[in-house]
Amino acid sequence: NWNMKNFIEDQVELIRRQVGEKKVLLALSGGVDSSVVAALLLKAIGSQLVCVHVNHGLMRKGESESVIEVFKNQLNANLVYVDAIERFLGKLEDVADPEQKRKIIGAEFIRVFEEEARKLDGIEFLGQGTIYPDIIESGTKTAKMVKSHHNVGGLPEDLQFELVEPLKQLFKDEVRACGIELGLPGSMVYRQPFPGPGLGVRCLGAITRERLEAVREADAILREEFEKAGLDKKVWQYFTVVPDFKSVGVKNNARCFEYPVIIRAVNTVDAMTATIEQLDWPVLLKITDRIMNEVANVNRVCYDLSPKPTATIEWE
Ligand code: XMP
Repeated sequence: NWNMKNFIEDQVELIRRQVGEKKVLLALSGGVDSSVVAALLLKAIGSQLVCVHVNHGLMRKGESESVIEVFKNQLNANLVYVDAIERFLGKLEDVADPEQKRKIIGAEFIRVFEEEARKLDGIEFLGQGTIYPDIIESGTKTAKMVKSHHNVGGLPEDLQFELVEPLKQLFKDEVRACGIELGLPGSMVYRQPFPGPGLGVRCLGAITRERLEAVREADAILREEFEKAGLDKKVWQYFTVVPDFKSVGVKNNARCFEYPVIIRAVNTVDAMTATIEQLDWPVLLKITDRIMNEVANVNRVCYDLSPKPTATIEWE
């Protein structure tokens, strides 16, 4: 009879048999799939696992810190933290085209990961958080046709590893159950989807530090207020966007010329289509008030009412 405990025991056995005494490398973004695969590999092979967390500077507030806290401090994993913030922001400077931005972030990610892999000796395996929908959907319809998606893959030929993919038979809800069974915090296992290019596709046009900071702070406020209102368990995905234009406002009786923050909250089953969450006014007003008071360089808040189609979930 199939249950999560048995699944984990079986996978631990299979991983040990596949890997033997060798080492496994894993790109640990902090997303659900990579976190759960990391926890499972840790249970199976402990110190033979080397996790690499690349901070591309486009993470949400507190996200890299929580990866370090959970995996390095609590679970004692070998975790290589790579601060690549300046490198990514440098590459992205003055790049305004959305697809160009996605390509740069994806390519740079692989380059950074490759450099780290080359520094490590004797690694023969690459752990991946591939799940069942990734396999059945690859190459078919999906959102992947509309935008270039970001994943690890595309490593150079002389750096090929054998893959370890212990989650590839699981659906998302089973992956989450597996994570909980392995002792990962609910905040990590039940988090909403976050695109690989991160806040880079929510800080519209050519990224500036000023607007990146604004989108990160506004996003943190939005998440906090959603949690307080119990909406984090109800709404599929919610985030903020900062466009690259300003509008006139008034602060402390003086004219100001600053950026707007756009709030987006959507529900969907498969991300192919989506409807907006009909948020209650008091929640929207509270969030608006906090953003306007607490986030620098912002003087206006808007709520995005567009379903997918015609809009996509992300703005870029
Ligand atoms: P769109 O904007 O195409 O997004 O309606 C559909 C879903 O995919 C997420 N998304 C990504 N996920 N890598 C990912 O892993 C990416 O590059 C990427 N781009 C968008 C998006 O957040 C939404 O949930």
